Amino acid sequence: MDTVAFIDALTHDEGVARAVRLFTDTFGEQPDGVWSAPGRVNLIGEHTDYNAGLCLPIALPHRTFVALKARKDTTARVVSDISPNSVAQADLKGLQAGGVEGWSAYPIGVAWALRETGFTQVQGFDAAFASCVPLGSGLSSSAAMTCSVALALDDVYGLGFGASDAGRVTLITAAMASENDMAGASTGGLDQNASMRCIAGHALLLDCRPELTPLENVSQQPFDLEGLGLELLVVDTQAPHQLNDGQYAQRRAMCDDAARILGVASLRVSADSIARAADPFQALNETLDALPDATMKRRVRHVITEIERVRSFVHAFAQHDIVAAGQLFNASHDSLAADYEVTVPELDAAVDVARSNGAYGARMTGGGFGGSIIALVDRGRSQEIAQRIADEFAARGFHAPRALAAVASDSARREA
Ligand code: GLA
Repeated sequence: MDTVAFIDALTHDEGVARAVRLFTDTFGEQPDGVWSAPGRVNLIGEHTDYNAGLCLPIALPHRTFVALKARKDTTARVVSDISPNSVAQADLKGLQAGGVEGWSAYPIGVAWALRETGFTQVQGFDAAFASCVPLGSGLSSSAAMTCSVALALDDVYGLGFGASDAGRVTLITAAMASENDMAGASTGGLDQNASMRCIAGHALLLDCRPELTPLENVSQQPFDLEGLGLELLVVDTQAPHQLNDGQYAQRRAMCDDAARILGVASLRVSADSIARAADPFQALNETLDALPDATMKRRVRHVITEIERVRSFVHAFAQHDIVAAGQLFNASHDSLAADYEVTVPELDAAVDVARSNGAYGARMTGGGFGGSIIALVDRGRSQEIAQRIADEFAARGFHAPRALAAVASDSARREA
């Protein structure tokens, strides 16, 4: 059997050197600086962000580095270490939503979104990316890219939002607009908030109710796995993304329809009133009874119970009740599999193997339809459990998975 590969994070020096080298090789001059932003794993609270719910991401040590230089015109040129010989280019002037094709829509869309918001001092730029955030793995490589560019543009054009947590919310909005409106990839804010607002050693409890101010909508929860003798294993299943075209948007639209039928602004409103009811089980059943079809009932049950699981997880973890925390991971995955139907056989198999090999709990993380799982395991056991998953994948004819070690890391920052 092949030994399972672990993806290492680029160090500060490696990331800076690679991004600068690609920049100078491509554009023939020095960048103004280097910035980076991390990928993320969401500990719990999946498909809740667009329902004004709760989620709990940590930033990964795996980051995207961007070397960037401001230009005097409105041209944007971008290159990435995935394809170092092809430079993509667009003119920001006159650019419309959806006007850039391919991966370059993500970075160029950030400048477009800032200008659309009224920050017309943002002009063109040249940028070179070097990243160790695996692509298409549900670990938010796209948010790592858009957030690194947002912070770089903020800096070189003197917008002044990057220096404070509240200011960063403006940059998050631009990163989301780029993904939603320029790249056409639906996203609910979890990924960009994680990449811009996480603190090392902490999980970010994000409350997505739109009426909350930036000061009110996050709280930093200590997340010191090492101190508890634990590790968080991430396994990227490398499952080919199946059926994902439009599936995320469909889930989202059904949640909006359900909220309309229930007469509430979002499913969060229902979740909160159910949580406050004298008999929450009965209140949940009454809510589900008001919905017209079985699929919608299951989708709503996932969202409402998942929001409650975030609260329970935060409580359990703060009490160092790791068994309870692990059970909540398991319940989250099972709900995503049975009720929300966003898992694939590779995700379910990886979770099963992790659980039967001693993980306290395991679940898919991110949007689903492929991507990664996370497993809470005793310190020193990640390698062995990842190998068991790889062996099972080989036996079942799945693609070889890869693994990485998740340590709660810092958000986007200037590197050089
Ligand atoms: C993707 C989206 C996020 C969130 C998750 C599911 O990662 O980009 O906004 O909806 O799926 O929790």
